[in-house]
Amino acid sequence: MNCDAAIKIIMIKSENEIEKSVMEAGLMQQINSQFVLKCTCTFANQSGSQFFIVMPFLRNGNLADFIKNNPSLTTEEIAELFEGILYGIIDMHAHNILHNDLKLDNILLSNDLTPVIGDLGLSRKLINEKSYLKDVGGAILYSSPESMFGKAVKESDYFSAGMILLAMCCSDDGEIMMKCKYG
Ligand SMILES: Nc1ncnc2c1ncn2[C@@H]1O[C@H](COP(=O)(O)OP(=O)(O)O)[C@@H](O)[C@H]1O
Ligand SMILES: [Mg+2]
Repeated sequence: MNCDAAIKIIMIKSENEIEKSVMEAGLMQQINSQFVLKCTCTFANQSGSQFFIVMPFLRNGNLADFIKNNPSLTTEEIAELFEGILYGIIDMHAHNILHNDLKLDNILLSNDLTPVIGDLGLSRKLINEKSYLKDVGGAILYSSPESMFGKAVKESDYFSAGMILLAMCCSDDGEIMMKCKYG
């Protein structure tokens, strides 16, 4: 049995932060997908100053480091990784959950290099077509124009997925990515 666990420690400085952390873990628990990181359980320390999210430990780390260490991925490898990321987004959207912060650092890799979407810290349950984001805070390079104005729509996750695809194709070259996004 593989019992390796990772624990995300969140420092709580306000009521708002405890609410956000509970929401992050709660959203992770709603989605049952091999392409989205699960939350095993949560707990807090006695004083309530720290909140812990326990999850499976994915020893292959994140996609940013993977690309740094493997700068010459083949088209087939990129396509396979991208397909997994799209399945993860579809599974999240099936629960009406917008990830809202998709980027290389937030994609983890399982033992067999299946991509697993993590860090649901900015994710939101969409209530209706006119949902707005309370906090705009995703990585600017990966954010869709509408999400930068606070609009919460599922299409924005696909914009970010496109930037991830670009990052995989150009070995995460910031200059190329800037040119593609801003011309
Ligand atoms: N379950 C996990 N297994 C292995 N590494 C992880 C796991 N969760 C997070 N990490 C590592 O920690 C980094 C930060 O995690 P993340 O949840 O994105 O936190 P933050 O909210 O600080 O961005 C990830 O990019 C990854 O390298
Ligand atoms: Mg992160």
